[in-house]
Amino acid sequence: MVLQGKTALITGGSSGIGLATAAMLRDGGARVAIAGRSQDKLDRAVGELGGDVVAICADVSSLDQLERMRTELQNAFGSLDILFANAGMALGTPLATADEETYHTLMNANVKSVFFTVQAVLPLMREGGSIILNTSWLNQVGTPGRAILSASKAAVRSFARSMSAELIDRKIRVNAVSPGSIETPIHRGKNQSEEEFRAYAERVGAQVPIGRMGRPEEVSAAVLFLASDASSYMLGAEIVVDGGRSEL
Ligand SMILES: NC(=O)c1ccc[n+]([C@@H]2O[C@H](COP(=O)([O-])OP(=O)(O)OC[C@H]3O[C@@H](n4cnc5c(N)ncnc54)[C@H](OP(=O)(O)O)[C@@H]3O)[C@@H](O)[C@H]2O)c1
Repeated sequence: MVLQGKTALITGGSSGIGLATAAMLRDGGARVAIAGRSQDKLDRAVGELGGDVVAICADVSSLDQLERMRTELQNAFGSLDILFANAGMALGTPLATADEETYHTLMNANVKSVFFTVQAVLPLMREGGSIILNTSWLNQVGTPGRAILSASKAAVRSFARSMSAELIDRKIRVNAVSPGSIETPIHRGKNQSEEEFRAYAERVGAQVPIGRMGRPEEVSAAVLFLASDASSYMLGAEIVVDGGRSEL
């Protein structure tokens, strides 16, 4: 198993891409911790993963909660080899109507949280460690109504380069993964029926060259590669997993 003997933390590991990645890294031999704000979601995720996973209830945009997360992680594992900084959110931000509160909500959730998550766990990271940041296909294309979301993800893409340069002496690699439209709860509207969601997924899928939305596991496979020594020559790089949406 490629991750035998390694420890991993996945923020936002209770749902979607994070949950699929928790399963894949665990199946790859790693001891896995997942973090998220909702204890209910964490409990359900641990059940789905079949136990044997450490769950940490923490809001990664709060520095106090990040400190507590590090303590819980230290108590559970002692040290850390892999961080997947995945927690994040999406909101529409039309230029004409987006307000200041939405700006801060998105930037705190997607940018501040990633910077301070890395800072918080660094004291635990071992030489040879791998940090993977979750950005988005939106970091490199312009689409209407998503300026703040896209800028937040472009900042995370930039972090992968700067942080990798800063951590190279400690032999810690930082890389990014950029998902396209992936079928996860982030796309589900409140009170949306399954039928309505399927129609939405068809519409979005039709805009992607490959003809469908992606599956969370298709992103997790890239994370597994970046987490493992198979990617040992990759630093500050990005793997785009978007069905060709930003390239074709
Ligand atoms: N799905 C896509 O199409 C897509 C495309 C590009 C990029 N992404 C990125 O992929 C990442 C994962 O998204 P997803 O699609 O898997 O969404 P998801 O199913 O909604 O999962 C989001 C996860 O993040 C956690 N989370 C959110 N804010 C948090 C916070 N402040 N502190 C701790 N945990 C937090 C959520 O748990 P709680 O709510 O309990 O905190 C949940 O576990 C995000 O960064 C997203 O921007 C997704």
